[in-house]
Amino acid sequence: MDKKRVAVFRREHFNAAHRLYNPQWDDAKNMQVFGKCSNPHYHGHNYELEIKVTGIPNAATGYVMDMKVLSDLVQEQVLARFDHKNLNLDTPEFKNLNPTAEHIAIVIYDLLRPKLDPEHDLHIRLYETPRNFVEYPA
Ligand code: NI
Repeated sequence: MDKKRVAVFRREHFNAAHRLYNPQWDDAKNMQVFGKCSNPHYHGHNYELEIKVTGIPNAATGYVMDMKVLSDLVQEQVLARFDHKNLNLDTPEFKNLNPTAEHIAIVIYDLLRPKLDPEHDLHIRLYETPRNFVEYPA
């Protein structure tokens, strides 16, 4: 069974508010580009997060990685940071970064990547709505 790569997934959920906004544009232009997501008083999304870790199962455990370890990592690095937060106002990550699903996925990747085995591949899928989702790396 050696050298066979397997992907393991952890699904998590968080709620957060945001406003999509380019400070170089006026409100009218922002509304034209971002629509309701540029509402000045913010709005919330129920984000569904899928974390995919790919690697060769460990010879001793048969695990790619211990899912409890992955779960704890996501809890402390992602959920503790973003759940029930206003991304624009409450999180330094999005103080100067438009909190689109694309950018949120990249930020989550960058938070988790250094905590994982360098031999493992990481992919982030983030659902902003049941029908709209992004994946990073593409
Ligand atoms: Ni939105």
